[in-house]
Amino acid sequence: MKAPRGTQDLLPGVTEKWQYVEGKLKELSNNYHYQEIRTPIFEHTELFQRGVGDTTDIVQKEMYTFFDKGDRSITLRPEGTASVVRSFVEHKLFGSPNQPTKLFYIGPMFRYERPQQGRMRQFVQYGVEALGSADPAIDAEVISLAMNAYQTLGLQSLKLVINSLGDQESRENHRQALIDHFTPVKEELCEDCQTRLEQNPLRVLDCKKDREHPKMQDAPSILEYLNDESEAYFEKVKAYLDAMNITYEVDPNLVRGLDYYNHTAFEIMSNAEGFGAITTLSGGGRYNGLVQDLGGPETPGIGFALSIERLLMALEAEGVELPIDSKLDCYVVSLGDAANLKVAAIVNELRQAGIQVDKDYQAKKFKAQFKAADRLQAKYVLVLGDDELANNQIAIKNMETGDQETVALDQLTEHMQGIL
Ligand code: HAM
Repeated sequence: MKAPRGTQDLLPGVTEKWQYVEGKLKELSNNYHYQEIRTPIFEHTELFQRGVGDTTDIVQKEMYTFFDKGDRSITLRPEGTASVVRSFVEHKLFGSPNQPTKLFYIGPMFRYERPQQGRMRQFVQYGVEALGSADPAIDAEVISLAMNAYQTLGLQSLKLVINSLGDQESRENHRQALIDHFTPVKEELCEDCQTRLEQNPLRVLDCKKDREHPKMQDAPSILEYLNDESEAYFEKVKAYLDAMNITYEVDPNLVRGLDYYNHTAFEIMSNAEGFGAITTLSGGGRYNGLVQDLGGPETPGIGFALSIERLLMALEAEGVELPIDSKLDCYVVSLGDAANLKVAAIVNELRQAGIQVDKDYQAKKFKAQFKAADRLQAKYVLVLGDDELANNQIAIKNMETGDQETVALDQLTEHMQGIL
């Protein structure tokens, strides 16, 4: 049997990288004072229909939706924002005196997409959401956190692209302009875009099939339709980014694949050679109406998410080695029943003292045990031979220097703590 298409097993040797990256992301979240939230892997389907948007590819084509035994329509979460906002409303986090509410999450998401390098059907997102502030400084904070997530891990070939999708009034005006622009050539657009033009014309700009259509090139830009307020907001976000020395490009065609966005939208791409066809590492933006749409009080919000799969691909493309210590602290070598009993006690005591230690469980000969210790890159090999056992001692070999010493068994733990 094989794992389902678009999923993967993470095996030892690789899981260490994941743990390292996840640890760094948690540390970074803490530095920015975002606290962890864990929401269910599945939700009521309606949450994503209302939250992510009925006209998006995610909702129309990519959700893992099924009826449970109680005949409820359930969906494996395709993203984290809708769930976080649902939880924020359900638990009335808006009532806490500490606003904005700054949250982060790490967990699997599910989208029924055509799998390829960097596009999985189950993938892990790290994301943050800041709810309760309409200060452009927090847009810049989220963008800086997103950039920092890559930079702290050693990535350099990054490109930040930003855009403003404006407020509702700006979007309405832009929407009408898009309809006027594309309607004369409607028949030439793909079937999806013909529907999009009626339901959500902004989505036309994001179409992969019609990308080369001549009308795409001179489509009306949202930036021309921003009202004064939206334009002033975008200017402030840029000023904060400038103040933080964060380099960006403005791309008026940047449209995100989810419906909840307004004002700031951004994506981070990898410029690394050999990264592959999909270059987007992460994306996010502001979603000021979403809390209300999901039944909460009027609350502005902004966030972003990255997938760890693509982050690891970028690290590989840039040749960044993560500083993972895969060496074992100690390996205990022994022979004979009496020694084995003693070793069980020693190993137990060392582990309880927080020392990483392993031993043989395959009745290997002395020499083969040493070989095993070598393969596991043990820093120290502890040897309990007949002589040592008789004298209540144990021999310690430093595998890096080759130095050997003998210590009394009752001082072993303390001694090892000292030298490690
Ligand atoms: P998104 O752009 O749909 O936004 O996804 C964010 C990131 O998740 C992408 O940039 C990509 O790194 C990763 N991703 C998406 N689909 C896949 C896939 N099939 N395989 C591997 N990685 C994938 C969101 O999900 C929003 N919730 C982000 C957000 C948070 N906006 C505001 N707050």
